[in-house]
Amino acid sequence: MPAKLVLQPLRVEVAHRYQRTTLLQPRPGTGLPPGYGLEKVRCIGKGTNNRAYLYRTSASQLVVVRHARRNSDAQRVGNAVWEFRHTMIAASIGVAPVLFDAWYSRTGTDDQKSGLHLVCEYFPLDMHSFVVHRPFVATPLGDSLRTMVVKHLRTMADNNLFCYDLKLQNMVIKEQPLEVRFIDFGRDFCEWRPYSPGNICLERAPVLSFIQTLAEESATERYGAVQLYGDLTFTVMLVLLSSNIAYTLKQSKAASRCSFATNRLLNFMAPAAQDERVQLSAAHVTLVQKILRHPEIRSMLVHYMGQRNSGTKRCFTYASFFRKKPL
Ligand SMILES: Nc1ncnc2c1ncn2[C@@H]1O[C@H](COP(=O)(O)OP(=O)(O)O)[C@@H](O)[C@H]1O
Ligand SMILES: [Mg+2]
Repeated sequence: MPAKLVLQPLRVEVAHRYQRTTLLQPRPGTGLPPGYGLEKVRCIGKGTNNRAYLYRTSASQLVVVRHARRNSDAQRVGNAVWEFRHTMIAASIGVAPVLFDAWYSRTGTDDQKSGLHLVCEYFPLDMHSFVVHRPFVATPLGDSLRTMVVKHLRTMADNNLFCYDLKLQNMVIKEQPLEVRFIDFGRDFCEWRPYSPGNICLERAPVLSFIQTLAEESATERYGAVQLYGDLTFTVMLVLLSSNIAYTLKQSKAASRCSFATNRLLNFMAPAAQDERVQLSAAHVTLVQKILRHPEIRSMLVHYMGQRNSGTKRCFTYASFFRKKPL
């Protein structure tokens, strides 16, 4: 009997093979990679733009196949290429699930939808239900998750990836051993742009260009612009994630009940945001405020938290980004 095929990760070193032209090669039938005996198990998630299905290969490997929902923005080829590239970078630096395959179909057929398709590693738990139903903030589990998430955000910032669609619904986890990953690197709320000499606008990355401008204006001999660029990107992501988690939990009846009953704070990222604030100078905090006021960030905050809650003060409060003396 021939050995059963196991899906292998896409290799970023050969990323040029997966550029626009490759991504656009039409795929016959379902488009799924042939030879692995992929069979659909069930639908596991539905976001605004995409739908994710669990599949099993004949070698019993469980993977997720994600495709765009009808009439979503993600179906446009320009957006798809960007999303693919961001996802590929995120997977290659270990902050997103392993990516096995990706393709784009221009038109939908009976067998496959139009838009970007991703085949990636399966993470069985979604962070939203996990946090809402299990008040673990003061436990070692909360500490481990926070450490992992902070590390991921730092890795993203160090690799010039800036995601501002950071929320519980875009995080997935696995237990034993505990692992957490970010998903959903769509074009709208995600940018990738290395620090560029002369601040040339290399790609469509308005927020990162703005962060570089601020970093250049505020750099000193000891604290250079490149380092400040990475640090600001990291701090902003941390604040945005922490505030989004706190806001989401406040809106959730189950979470409020749970937090009331256990008298615990459910935002497991709060201590990280507070630690970060303690480390920062007032000047650095002012720069973070300026970035939060950037129109792209602001419109995202309004989108998730409403006009009333999208000011920098509110955002800092939700994030627990305030200065308190460490105990
Ligand atoms: N690798 C994965 N493992 C487990 N669940 C996933 C995975 N990828 C996506 N999902 C589920 O599918 C949902 C929608 O996927 P997502 O990429 O966030 O789409 P959208 O862009 O529409 O928000 C997620 O909220 C999550 O519950
Ligand atoms: Mg999502």
